[in-house]
Order: sequence, then structure tokens, then C-alpha cells
Amino acid sequence: MVDGKRIRSVAVVGAGAAGAITAAALKAENYFERIRVFERRERPGGTWIYDEDPKPSLDIYPGSLPPDIDRPLKIPDSVPSHTPPSCQERYVQTPVYKSLTTNVPDIAMCYSDARFPYGPFVPHYIPRQYVENYFSTHKTDSFLQLNTTVEDMSKVNAEKGGNCQWKLTLRTYDPARHIDIWWDEIFDAVVLGNGHYSVPYVPHVDGLDAYLKRFPGRVVHSKYYRSPLPYASKKVLIIGNSASGHDISNELVTTASHPVYQSIRSKSIWDGDEPPAGIVWKPVIKEFLLDGRIMFKDGTYLDSVDTVIYCTGYKPSYPFWNIEANGRPLWDYEAGKMIKTYWHTFFQDFPTLAIVGAPRVLTFRSFEYQAIALARLFAGRHSVSLPPIEEQKKWEKEREQRTKREGLKFHDIEWETGETMEWLRGLFQIAGLGTLRGEGRIPPFLGEDMIWAIEHIKKYPEPGNGRNNAGKGKDRKGQEGVEVETEEEDWVLVERKRKDLLAFI
Ligand SMILES: Cc1cc2nc3c(=O)[nH]c(=O)nc-3n(C[C@H](O)[C@H](O)[C@H](O)COP(=O)(O)OP(=O)(O)OC[C@H]3O[C@@H](n4cnc5c(N)ncnc54)[C@H](O)[C@@H]3O)c2cc1C
Ligand SMILES: NC(=O)c1ccc[n+]([C@@H]2O[C@H](COP(=O)([O-])OP(=O)(O)OC[C@H]3O[C@@H](n4cnc5c(N)ncnc54)[C@H](OP(=O)(O)O)[C@@H]3O)[C@@H](O)[C@H]2O)c1
Repeated sequence: MVDGKRIRSVAVVGAGAAGAITAAALKAENYFERIRVFERRERPGGTWIYDEDPKPSLDIYPGSLPPDIDRPLKIPDSVPSHTPPSCQERYVQTPVYKSLTTNVPDIAMCYSDARFPYGPFVPHYIPRQYVENYFSTHKTDSFLQLNTTVEDMSKVNAEKGGNCQWKLTLRTYDPARHIDIWWDEIFDAVVLGNGHYSVPYVPHVDGLDAYLKRFPGRVVHSKYYRSPLPYASKKVLIIGNSASGHDISNELVTTASHPVYQSIRSKSIWDGDEPPAGIVWKPVIKEFLLDGRIMFKDGTYLDSVDTVIYCTGYKPSYPFWNIEANGRPLWDYEAGKMIKTYWHTFFQDFPTLAIVGAPRVLTFRSFEYQAIALARLFAGRHSVSLPPIEEQKKWEKEREQRTKREGLKFHDIEWETGETMEWLRGLFQIAGLGTLRGEGRIPPFLGEDMIWAIEHIKKYPEPGNGRNNAGKGKDRKGQEGVEVETEEEDWVLVERKRKDLLAFI
């Protein structure tokens, strides 16, 4: 029930960890007549599906964003219909590599009603199995429509000043006939659980475009890294120092030529004063030259590098969101945020749309709070209503200003400042209790054991703990807001932006 209108049907986009808990929370309400979960892969699991042999790394387009490289597919003029199979790249493969294990203790990573089979850190196939089992344990497996991509999402039947419905245009490949089959389905509400680690991001660097043409295949993105074996005795340069950059550079030390070079813009919470044995740190790259040299901002260079692996992360992509029909884009790439959201979950101008999994914070467990809150809102059984639109706008504006001022990202929710608790508490309050008949999930409590695990059980030692661990000597000025430098007469004060305890998630 939203704005007095009953929601009977809900679609969920994606069957990863966000989709699994959303389906369970919606079902628990025993209220909705139709719940469907659309997943473009062959099974649930999302990020945690391991693609052993990802097809050759895709071309790299430095500085390009998803609207340029993950374009909407052309929708047939009339639907239902069928077309020759699309061969447009959709970035469906995952970045999981062979040795990957989880990096959050299982008590804090799993949903509240089922632990991982063991812990604290587990191989990548455990969360995949877990997500898949979660669908069957909660009997939401029948909601799943696998191998089906949501290619378009448009608002329809909009009432003046009221809610709209959503038309999803869906595509599945029929292997027997080698055709794509297209059809539409209409829903009263939609929950986005499509993740944000699919479309790789490589920043623009002077000379990189020409370098890519001159040395094809030399530069790759960590999305396609699977094991250190192909890099035996190779001279490798890693760019980036978050979870992927840290893990991959350390793993490459076992096979690659020594040292493995790692270009880092800021220290991670795992870094001490010196790089680990076998690794040499380099600063940010200044320029790629056609003679093969890679110039760094401190004036040094590397030549004869065999492979450059960009571990520079991903950008969210919503190619299915029909900007024209819906009147605006969903994501603002310049500001790095979802547009017109409230509490990272709800939309100010679309009360029947919600998103689970957008913020960078605890994963599965946080998704649970989001899913329960939105399920109870959509069922009209919530305990506390969302604030008036003016207050939602104020929340967004103030957060935007504050995060900008503090050099943080809009959707990064910090642990150490207590922000995660405040955020979860907000969702907890919206949801409230279930009905006397037991309908509806109740948000879990955040036990002391879980909090203790988050703060004390670590996958890697944290010598620097990310706090004011600035390097010695001169550093570059204000690199994209990561370091702030005050130049005095003969010395430089570098205040590195603090990294939160869970910044690596
Ligand atoms: C390499 C790597 C390691 C990680 N390690 C950890 C870790 O150790 N601990 C941790 O807590 N988190 C980790 N994460 C974060 C991880 O993303 C979350 O744990 C969680 O899996 C996110 O779930 P999600 O459902 O939001 O997104 P995803 O897992 O990405 O699932 C989204 C699903 O939506 C589907 N989809 C997308 N678009 C469409 C469409 N148009 N139509 C139909 N289906 C669609 C996708 O195929 C996918 O199955 C890691 C991430 C990466 C990339
Ligand atoms: N379970 C595991 O062990 C594991 C392993 C790998 C990945 N993951 C997960 O996978 C997700 C993605 O992680 P990720 O490491 O691939 O990406 P990420 O966390 O987004 O990190 C991107 C890295 O690239 C750097 N970077 C970005 N733009 C840059 C630029 N213009 N110039 C120089 N450096 C730049 C960033 O530096 P700054 O920090 O300075 O911004 C950061 O070090 C995360 O959720 C992570 O937890 C988990």
C-alpha cells in the first residue's frame, strides 16, 4: 500500500544477495499477489558466481562511463516478438577470481536467519551456494525467472499526482531456436537489486588511448583476472590499492617477475609504512608514452612492462532505466550518487520504486534491513512512514553537501562514526513489528557478538588502520580529493583522508 493504493505485484531485478533477501521479505508479508525475480544469469548468486574462463578482456575505454559503454539494447518495435540473438556486450560475467575468499566475518555478512556453513572467511563458492539455497529455503525459488534480462523499465499508467505502474521489457535467449524472445510484464512496484560491480572503470590518463592501440592486450582490468599463473615471470604493474589491488598484487608476487609494481593513490587499511616483500609502490601515473614507458607523477618511469592491471573498480549501470519514459536518469555520474533517493533505499518521486544494495556498507546483513523496510512499506504495514518529501529532499541535500565537504562518497556509510547504526536504525524503525498472525519479517537486532566480530576479526592485519598514515615527503596536491595538502615554506603537510574500518567492502 503506497499513498492509499494497494500494491499487488512486485518485480525484483537481480537474484544476487539483494534479490534473495528482498524476495524473502516480500513473501513473508503474505500480502502480494505476484512476486517475480528476474535474473539475467543462469542461476542465483550474483557477484558470487565464478566464471572460470571469462571471455577475453573487453576493450578498455579510459574515462568512459556506463552510459557510453553499457548502452540500452534496441527494443523491438512491437513486443511480444523475437529477434536474432543480441551480441551486444552486457558485462554479465563476474569479477570473482579463483583464490577469492570473503573479507567480512560470516556472522556479519550472512542474513540473520542462516549462518554460512563455516567461517569466519569462506571461499567464493560458499556465498553463491548460500544465496541459491536461500531462495529454496524460503520457497521463493518459484519467483525466479532465470536467463532473463530486464532490458527496459518504463513508468506507465501514471495517475495525476499519484502512483504509476512499471512496464518491464524482458529478453531471454532460446537456445533451441537461437533467437531472443521478448515480452512485457507490468508491475505495481519494482525493487532494483542489480548490483554495481559489473561495468569496469578505467580512469582517463594522458597517452593511455594511444598506448592501448600501440600495445593491444597489454592493459587489462581486474574484472578478468582469475589466477596469477598467466603472469609467470612477467613484469606487472597494478593500478589501485583497494581490495582488488591489494589481493591481486600480493598474489602475483608468487609468480610474476620481482618486484611487482603497484601504483597507489591512497593507502589502504592494510598498509604499513613499507610495501610487502616483493612489491614496490609507485605513485599515480602521469602519462603513458608510445615508446612503452609509463611515467609517474614523481618523475620516475617503468619500461618494458608486460601487463598493466587496472584495479580501479566499477561504476553502477542501469541501461534498462528508460530515461525518456521516466523523465530523468537514475544515477548522477558526476556526483557519484543515485538521484532523488531517501535513506539510500527509497525514491522521492517514485514511491513504488526501491533499491537494495546501493550503499557501500555491510552487504547481505544491511540488505536485510532495507528489504524488510520496503516490504513492510509496500504492504502498508510499516510502523513509521517515510518523512514528507521536503524532508527527504533536505536529507539528500545535506548529505550531498557534507560528503562533498569531507571528501567522502554519497553512498559510503561509515562504521566507525556510528553512521551504519543510525542508518540501520532508521530502516528498523520504518519496518516495526510483524503482524500478530506472524506476517512480515522483523528486522534483526545487531548483537554485541556481531559488532565485536566486525571490529576484531580481520582477514588481514591492519598496521596503518587508515588513520592519518600519510607517507613522508612531498605528495601531490589534492589528487581528486583523496589527499589534501597544505604547502608551507619548506614543508608539506599531507592530510590523508581517513579510511573507515569497513572502507574496503
Ligand atoms: C570481487 C568482489 C569481491 C567481493 N567480496 C565481498 C566480501 O568478501 N564480502 C562482502 O560482504 N561483499 C563482497 N563483495 C560485494 C558484493 O558485491 C556483495 O557481497 C553482494 O554480492 C552484492 O549483492 P547484490 O545482489 O547487490 O549484487 P550482485 O551480486 O551484483 O547481484 C546483482 C544481480 O543482478 C543481475 N542483473 C543485473 N542487471 C540485470 C538485468 N538488467 N536484468 C536481470 N538481472 C540483472 C546480475 O546478473 C546479478 O546476478 C565483493 C564484490 C566483488 C566484486
Ligand atoms: N573478498 C575480497 O577479498 C575482495 C577482493 C577484491 C574485491 N572485493 C570487493 O570488490 C569490490 C570492488 O573492489 P575493487 O578493489 O575492485 O574496487 P574499489 O574498492 O572501488 O577500489 C578502486 C581502487 O582504484 C583506485 N582508483 C580509482 N580511481 C583512480 C584513479 N583515477 N587513479 C588512481 N587510482 C584510482 C582507488 O583509489 P582511492 O582509494 O584512492 O580512491 C581504489 O584504490 C569491493 O566491494 C571489494 O570489497 C573483495
